[in-house]
Amino acid sequence: MPSSNETTPASAYFRTDIDLPESSFDLFNRYSSIPRDAVLRHVLDLREKAWKVFKYPCVGACAFAITAINEHPYYNTLLSDVKTGKTLIDVGTGFGQDLRRVILDCGDQNVSEQLCACDLEERFFLLGQECFLDQGKLGVKFVAADLLEQRAAALEPLQGTFDIVHASYFIHLWGWADQIRVLTSLIGLLRKAQGSVIVGAQIGSWKAYEKDVAVTEAGRMYLHDEESIKRLFREVGTVTGTAWRVEAINWQPETRKGFTEMWKQHPTSTYIQFSAVMLASEAA
Ligand SMILES: C[S@@+](CC[C@H](N)C(=O)[O-])C[C@H]1O[C@@H](n2cnc3c(N)ncnc32)[C@H](O)[C@@H]1O
Repeated sequence: MPSSNETTPASAYFRTDIDLPESSFDLFNRYSSIPRDAVLRHVLDLREKAWKVFKYPCVGACAFAITAINEHPYYNTLLSDVKTGKTLIDVGTGFGQDLRRVILDCGDQNVSEQLCACDLEERFFLLGQECFLDQGKLGVKFVAADLLEQRAAALEPLQGTFDIVHASYFIHLWGWADQIRVLTSLIGLLRKAQGSVIVGAQIGSWKAYEKDVAVTEAGRMYLHDEESIKRLFREVGTVTGTAWRVEAINWQPETRKGFTEMWKQHPTSTYIQFSAVMLASEAA
């Protein structure tokens, strides 16, 4: 989340005006069988528990209860690909809400064994299972690994096995140089074949720039516009011997209160949704 204020206290991220979109009520109701009028209480209780451990903006804002994947212009293609057997890894998955959305939207077809969730922080996996009430029921593979590391040991058996990488509010956690490292590691996870895809959404900017921030571990964030994200994939393409067709939409959606408030507080920030489809790979 954008913040240029080095001294913002963690308590500022604990929002009191939580306003979940309809898609969250639908997910908790149909996936987790929680009555609609009990959803908000359930989410706030989970936040209380998570906040004791993680004073992160995404926890304070209950972002773990809001899915991004289904709002992506690439979602219908992604969903039909998963339904035809393609594999997907959600990187920086957090509580894993986006994977639950995919599972729900695949209906009676059980796709969970085609899905994988990766995060640095293993404790998010258990919190996610408590949040979505699917402890012991889920076929998804959960892998704790540092995606900044090239070929992290825990991911070694999964190198080159995925058709789709999904990354929500993830790649923006770093400055340009580290984004190249993270993308190189994500490309390592993909099958080296035409049509493999990296799809995601994150905070962007009307005009791309890099800034110092206190809110992330790395202390730098590069916020993209449409041109810079294409340039990022050209550069990582050179590093990895791959070529990409990149599409991006950079805008200020007003689809929920959280967004509207964000644009008021950060008028130059945007929401950028992108898809990068592999056209060629020297390793193919
Ligand atoms: C802003 S949260 C986004 C969570 C989720 N994708 C969402 O959209 O709500 C970023 C996530 O990336 C994870 N993360 C941060 N650095 C990482 C790294 N080096 N490798 C893997 N995961 C990392 C964090 O633990 C956190 O769960």
